[in-house]
Amino acid sequence: MSFSTQLALDAAAIQVRLDAAMAGFSDEPVVQAMRYAVQGGKRLRGFLVLEAARMLGVPQARAISAAAAVEALHAYSLVHDDMPCMDDDALRRGLPTVHVKWDEATAVLAGDALQTLAFELMADPDLGSAETRIALVAGLARASGAEGMVLGQALDIAAETAIQPLTLDKIIELQAGKTGALIRFSAEAGAILAGADPAPLRAYATALGLAFQIWDDVLDVTGDAAVTGKAVGKDAAAGKATFVSLLGLDEARARATSLVEQAEIALAPYGPVAQNLIDCARFVIARQS
Ligand code: IPE
Ligand code: IPE
Ligand code: MG
Ligand code: MG
Ligand code: MG
Repeated sequence: MSFSTQLALDAAAIQVRLDAAMAGFSDEPVVQAMRYAVQGGKRLRGFLVLEAARMLGVPQARAISAAAAVEALHAYSLVHDDMPCMDDDALRRGLPTVHVKWDEATAVLAGDALQTLAFELMADPDLGSAETRIALVAGLARASGAEGMVLGQALDIAAETAIQPLTLDKIIELQAGKTGALIRFSAEAGAILAGADPAPLRAYATALGLAFQIWDDVLDVTGDAAVTGKAVGKDAAAGKATFVSLLGLDEARARATSLVEQAEIALAPYGPVAQNLIDCARFVIARQS
């Protein structure tokens, strides 16, 4: 099956799992906001979980809760990222952001509850043995916390008011945290589910995660909000430290291309079954949203 068909099928399956996880919840505004925040998106992180698992022989039914978990965690990070105290954005996935549609308190709490929902999903017995689930839970915690996404987000915000522009190494560190850690973990989760060596998938997704964020930064300059579904042209205005701010568009694009080549090389040990992951990497630096 082609990458794009598989991505669409996986996105639908992830939505079904997220809906089921919240089906018994109340209809309080905070829950309405959670349901709203998990709609849409490319589902790239969830796809990485499912595709890496599939490649290693793990059926979808055994991996779907992990895919839904990383997407719930990602949705939480977006709700908070858009808040006035962070990036102050009014548009996400083509719709008003949560704090605009509801209010800031609801956005904080919906994000909090999406994060805890992610860990509940990661503890789902369908994912395998207690040991497997503990490895998944611990991996998600590390990827999203003070040495992962939260650290990257903190460095991203701090850079806005830094007196000196960040060096290339600092920008790589920032991006490895804010975007790279969850993308890397998503691919690794497939190996954890399969009980397989995660090293090749980790190498693939480390390169992919950086390419992904570089492309996000490129789209902030070259993209159209009607297509990206979020405001553009905001990084430079906010003084964000990005590859584009440091190197310019052409050099940033060239780096993303070379990272995608590295990602493909890292998959060589798997042979032809890795084709969808290769196509996923190519998609990351061709996408317009
Ligand atoms: C946007 O992530 C935030 C970043 C980490 C750059 P995505 O581009 O994956 O957003 P969705 O989930 O498809 O909306
Ligand atoms: C957000 O990065 C990363 C996380 C939410 C962890 P950005 O701030 O660049 O993402 P967009 O551009 O708002 O989607
Ligand atoms: Mg941000
Ligand atoms: Mg943002
Ligand atoms: Mg961005």
